[in-house]
Amino acid sequence: MSDHQLTAQEASTRIAEAADLSALEALRVEYLGKQGSISGLLKTLGKMSPEERQEKAPAIQALRQSVADALTARKDEMEAAELEARLATETIDLTLPAPQAPKGSVHPVSQVMDELAEIFADLGFAVATGPEIEDDWYNFTALNMPESHPARAMHDTFYFPDAAPKGGKMLLRTHTSPVQVRTMMAEGAPLRIIAPGRVYRSDSDATHTPMFHQIEGLVIDRDIHLGHLKWTLETFLKAFFETEDIVLRLRPSYFPFTEPSVEVDVGFAIENGQDGKLRRILGGSGDEPGHGWMELLGSGMVNRRVIEFAGLDPDEWQGFAFGLGVDRLAMLKYGMDDLRAFFDGDSRWLSHYGFSPFDQPTLSAGVGAKA
Ligand code: DAH
Repeated sequence: MSDHQLTAQEASTRIAEAADLSALEALRVEYLGKQGSISGLLKTLGKMSPEERQEKAPAIQALRQSVADALTARKDEMEAAELEARLATETIDLTLPAPQAPKGSVHPVSQVMDELAEIFADLGFAVATGPEIEDDWYNFTALNMPESHPARAMHDTFYFPDAAPKGGKMLLRTHTSPVQVRTMMAEGAPLRIIAPGRVYRSDSDATHTPMFHQIEGLVIDRDIHLGHLKWTLETFLKAFFETEDIVLRLRPSYFPFTEPSVEVDVGFAIENGQDGKLRRILGGSGDEPGHGWMELLGSGMVNRRVIEFAGLDPDEWQGFAFGLGVDRLAMLKYGMDDLRAFFDGDSRWLSHYGFSPFDQPTLSAGVGAKA
């Protein structure tokens, strides 16, 4: 047996017996490292005559190759064993009972937005969206609120320091109404959309948060009148609150982007809740004894100026619009009394008021069933 065969045999035994990866690494250095014994043999090839090299090189190369192969094989074996061991400790026992409460829930705001989309889809409305970082032209000017308009000051707007492309200011949109203009410009008329989303105002107390949610509605067509608006709102509110007993009161109001403008109130009764607290129950005329009116939303016939700003001819196209607070709607329907809790991310609140992802609102199964 040649020296090389002896070395190969010894190496393969030692490699097979290596206890762990660091022992294996020590062997690799010993044989194949810069100062390693096999590396030393390879270096001697350079000093040989061509004839001698031709004779001895194959055995030395073969030795190097066999040791390298043995090292790789043993390393793979060790890594596979390690993985096996880890997998064995990480098994899941599928015979264990499922956790009692599934984790995670759908936030009431998301649920209500889905309910609204479902109801309005049935009335032929598509869902439109617009950016939350908005240009003051869309948020104000095109909605008939020029630079000096007092309504601008009432919006407690968050402005950015940067200038808008059209020379005005960039801001966080204060309402979803700019989506009216954007959609009219992008899609023309006729149009039937709702636009749900986040809006921002510098305001904070139990009923106001700096970020909240609105939903905008817009219908543009020929010969649209206030009757269409009232029917649409009544139909929507009856479906949303799942009761026929919804009485609306339309009050004259003012918004720069609608003319005429109406504020819509809904009648409610005051009841003594089980917890002793007084609660508002929707239904009936607010004028009955023990009843009242609650302001629900702003609406009106779209101002001619807005239709013009959006590039349509107001003599041909008319429409109505409305805007309402989604968070308030959720509070009313599901009985929360502090808006701030909506955005605290408290898992106890979420598991109490949240919805199961399986509780998809559909018109046939009901848009309000709480799991
Ligand atoms: N944008 C108004 C606000 O945030 C709400 C509103 C009122 C929207 C009347 C409308 C409307 O579309 O017609 O206060």
